[in-house]
Amino acid sequence: MCGIVGAIAQRNVVPVLVEGLKRLEYRGYDSAGVAVHTGSAITRVRRVGRVAEMENAAAEINLTGQLGIGHTRWATHGGVTEYNAHPHVSHGQIAVVHNGIIENHDEQRERLKQLGYVFESQTDTEVIAHLVHHYYKNGGLDLVEAVRVASRELSGAYAIAVIALDQPDVMACARKGCPLLVGLGEGENFIASDVSAIISSTRKVIFLEEGDIAEVRREGVKLTDQQGQPIERKIHFSDVSLASLELGPYSHFMQKEIHEQPKALADTIEQVLHDGFLPALFGAGASEILSQIDGVQILACGTSYYAGLTARYWLEAIAGIPCSVEVASEYRYRDAVARPNTLIVTISQSGETLDTMEALKYAKSLGHKWALSICNVKESAIPRASDLVIYTRAGAEIGVASTKAFTTQLIALFALTCTLAKLRGKLTAARETEYLDALRQLPGSVQHALNLEPQIRVWAERFAGKDHALFLGRGVHYPIALEGALKLKEITYIHAEAYPAGELKHGPLALVDENMPVVVIAPNDALLEKVKSNIQEVRARGGEMFVFADLDSHFSESEAVHVIRTPRHVGVLSPVVHAIPVQLLAYHSALMRGTDVDKPRNLAKSVTVE
Ligand code: F6R
Repeated sequence: MCGIVGAIAQRNVVPVLVEGLKRLEYRGYDSAGVAVHTGSAITRVRRVGRVAEMENAAAEINLTGQLGIGHTRWATHGGVTEYNAHPHVSHGQIAVVHNGIIENHDEQRERLKQLGYVFESQTDTEVIAHLVHHYYKNGGLDLVEAVRVASRELSGAYAIAVIALDQPDVMACARKGCPLLVGLGEGENFIASDVSAIISSTRKVIFLEEGDIAEVRREGVKLTDQQGQPIERKIHFSDVSLASLELGPYSHFMQKEIHEQPKALADTIEQVLHDGFLPALFGAGASEILSQIDGVQILACGTSYYAGLTARYWLEAIAGIPCSVEVASEYRYRDAVARPNTLIVTISQSGETLDTMEALKYAKSLGHKWALSICNVKESAIPRASDLVIYTRAGAEIGVASTKAFTTQLIALFALTCTLAKLRGKLTAARETEYLDALRQLPGSVQHALNLEPQIRVWAERFAGKDHALFLGRGVHYPIALEGALKLKEITYIHAEAYPAGELKHGPLALVDENMPVVVIAPNDALLEKVKSNIQEVRARGGEMFVFADLDSHFSESEAVHVIRTPRHVGVLSPVVHAIPVQLLAYHSALMRGTDVDKPRNLAKSVTVE
């Protein structure tokens, strides 16, 4: 979703802003803009479309300056137009970039109109520009104070950065509900919504917390709270690797990230293999918390939710602990019954998905005592609001469609399952050795699945021309069918649905004819024979089947039943391996359809609005 970058330096900051915005492109956006203090004016350049178009427009007017802010916008309030693109300005004096949503913008807009302000956009952000201007010019406050007073009057979620024509030596920022960080340089400082935006300038960062106001100058940064009291925050050293932000030899980040899975899994597994299934994996205090819980409630969105659905099979079967899984946006708005000793587990790649964050807060408000977060981004909002955390070590995930985050989340969930099983006396030493061994072998098995790519590419040729597809799975592979359908629809725009195979004849079978490809996830497990009967039901209706099986599944191929076999049966971790072929199928089908794989239409990477 929207991204923010800003810089104050003794050099021209326009290249820093442009590079930062390019690094934020992965989040999804539809327009981009910068506002730069040129010495005599605040000059704004905004364009609908790619950052590169905005960059060219800035180069045409030779835009330069030592203080500036930039933004990539993903439209919420108001359409995709240049007028609605950020930065927003007030009277040429104040320029603002903003992530999040101002909930009381209608009310503020009316008030500001009464005060004589004229609005040129439909955005909630323009309200901030005029409100800050009101306190700055009419109230006689300096920029930082004007931002502080204005922010107290805004409700909703925001991260904002503001500059003023009369104050070329300062940038003011405020954070509530949306991530914002300050990057510390030598004689220059930066701000960004995401560390990747400033990583080539500095790795020393301060993550702002709720209600923080930052006064950012070339020579230093001062942090205060909403009342103006000074506050201290820890300085972190970001370990995000530049290589993970660059494409290298790949054509798309999604392709790169699919192929990075053996390493991402090995890195995530390493922390488990190091200590075994011990509570310490989840942080200090985990032993006490995990030994008291009587159930698990998983809350997440999208792909992360499907990781949770997979884990439910493990948690109940292996650890014998009751587990419910719910889409965060549903949970947060229903009158759920609190079970105080049920552990809330949130799963989020980004750690900033608004619905997941709000569901977590809601669960706590209902009386749930403990929350554990599974997250890929260090110091992000959701782990910070949780009692326990395990970080997946997938590295930066840039492609909008989640791939390596999903499979590494499965590892974290499997480790949680085994740790709970051990604490509850349900994991024999022999089983523990078996599972640790299975984890050790997993990156190799995933590599074997990746080697199936040429065969999957051939299947993708048949898929590319279709309008619809069905995905089927049973048991622990049903969530993999769901994930396969989600990947396909996200990046190819083919309408795809997933069902537990046993549900077929309760409705979806009516859709099956020769135009409906049916993908089946059918490794050799306890439900294999049942899946085989379900396949016969499809065959009998003329449906063309694409079966992902493993070596032991013993499927016979025929004209309309195509089979790709993963080379080994990996037992309990089989869902991780079977996630790979469905990712590859979606990726290659999208290539053939010519869609924008890394930035599918209408989607954003981190969903920080409802
Ligand atoms: C799908 C996808 C989304 C995310 C969802 C949750 O490929 O990426 O469905 O999984 O938006 O995002 P996180 O995990 O960041 O909370």
